[in-house]
Amino acid sequence: MKILALIGSPRKQGNTDILVNEICRGSKAVGHVVETVRLYDYEILPCIDCRHCKRQEADHACTLKDGMQVIYPKLEDSDLIIFGTPVYWYGPTAKMKLLVDRLRPYIESRRLKGKRGIVVMPSEEGPGCCGPLMEMFRRSFDYLGMNMAGSILARAYERGEIERSPEEIRRAYELGASLS
Ligand SMILES: Cc1cc2nc3c(=O)[nH]c(=O)nc-3n(C[C@H](O)[C@H](O)[C@H](O)COP(=O)(O)O)c2cc1C
Repeated sequence: MKILALIGSPRKQGNTDILVNEICRGSKAVGHVVETVRLYDYEILPCIDCRHCKRQEADHACTLKDGMQVIYPKLEDSDLIIFGTPVYWYGPTAKMKLLVDRLRPYIESRRLKGKRGIVVMPSEEGPGCCGPLMEMFRRSFDYLGMNMAGSILARAYERGEIERSPEEIRRAYELGASLS
């Protein structure tokens, strides 16, 4: 199985990075192929609601020319997508939101239909504050015809603090290793 791991945190070696990496380690151990994309390495322009992507004769293509032209084929080529983002103001980071908005071509083309998704979200307050963001992903997956395959909601604040929670690290690894 091909897994695409999206890191939506600006912090390298941050909590999102570490948790997503553990899922990837677990999934590689059972033979899956993993590619990681750090969203902050790409320019992602805001969706401008031009609705070009709704047109079948235009092959549902997005007209914006930016890093998404590299990311779109990776999304379409994957079987499972990991969406990793810290909680920022009870939502995703701005970069992750830009990416989610740009999934609009897939509403019409259905090219993500049937794929699985995993959500990873560390936050200072912990799982209790993740409801709105979890709901955003749940509804968005539903809308795209994707299936939720798991989530890691963890409490951590400082860069790399999650390393001090071996239980969360183990949970992330085991989620990856349990994917079939
Ligand atoms: C702009 C900003 C907004 C944040 N908003 C929240 C929040 O609403 N709730 C919360 O629990 N933590 C919040 N945090 C804390 C981060 O979610 C937390 O530090 C997280 O572990 C960072 O993950 P990272 O290391 O992968 O970047 C916020 C941090 C920043 C920088």
